[in-house]
Amino acid sequence: MGSMLHSGLPVALSVLLGSCSAERPADPPFARPPAEASLGSVRDTGVFAQVCASCHGPGGEGREELFSPSIAGLPAWYTEEQLRKFRGGLRGFHREDIPGQQMRAVSLTLSQEQISEVAALVAEMPMVSTGAPPDGADIERGRFHFANTCMECHRYNGMGEVVFHSAPLISLNRSYLKRQLMNYRSGWRGADPGDLYGHKMVGIAARLSDAEIDRLVDYIGALAHGDDPRRAREK
Ligand code: HEC
Ligand code: HEC
Repeated sequence: MGSMLHSGLPVALSVLLGSCSAERPADPPFARPPAEASLGSVRDTGVFAQVCASCHGPGGEGREELFSPSIAGLPAWYTEEQLRKFRGGLRGFHREDIPGQQMRAVSLTLSQEQISEVAALVAEMPMVSTGAPPDGADIERGRFHFANTCMECHRYNGMGEVVFHSAPLISLNRSYLKRQLMNYRSGWRGADPGDLYGHKMVGIAARLSDAEIDRLVDYIGALAHGDDPRRAREK
């Protein structure tokens, strides 16, 4: 997996990643953005176009072959929080978690100001929906599970909830969703005692079997395409 990721990286990126072990400049000298990179009134000094786009795609839609998820439309508070976790070593710390380590290396090149700026920009990008479930997926059982185990924090529409610090789910790639649930379960994510909110997901994921994870990922795909879990809620 590691070598696959590396061979897939654009050259500019390996330079960027390679520089991470060296002293980090306080404020990386990104050039001004091309005019078309600006979105609405959000300040854009080109960090997204020059750093994030190579892995997450020009519209933040993600690139499956680089294991990078769709981030377009993630709320700014969530993106900022996760970037701070990567920086602080609460996420992407496990030596076998290659995708997490890659994102951690990138986070270390960003100043606090750039993190806030890029998070605001990402929030303005139109979300890409999680892929629909394949034919024959057990949506009914997935719905029941989601309604009674996940919905209270991720909401009935899978959009997450700032007060619980819970992420939106319905824009994430299927392979990424599965990998994160596995990461929580194995303690590659959320296990640090300082990761209060990640810890909640570790507790939840610890109770999930592989088959349940697959079913939940299928269901999140259905949710992204209009399914309503509320009727499956146990009274
Ligand atoms: C070297 C490729 C690469 C670059 C460049 C990169 N990312 Fe990532 N990013 C990844 C990968 C891979 C993951 C998945 C990490 C994991 O599996 O835990 C990720 C994950 C994330 C996440 C977590 C998403 C979630 O739902 O929790 C956020 C937020 C993010 N990246 C934002 C950014 C931003 C903003 C930039 C630009 C400053 C950026 N990334 C640049 C590869 C990259
Ligand atoms: C007690 C509240 C709570 C419950 C219940 C809960 N979650 Fe979460 N979930 C969270 C929080 C908080 C986060 C963000 C954790 C972090 O920062 O790592 C999260 C993150 C996630 C992520 C990672 C998203 C990303 O962008 O990387 C996935 C996937 C996820 N949850 C799926 C589920 C599923 C599926 C269930 C039901 C089986 C569930 N969650 C139940 C609170 C909850």
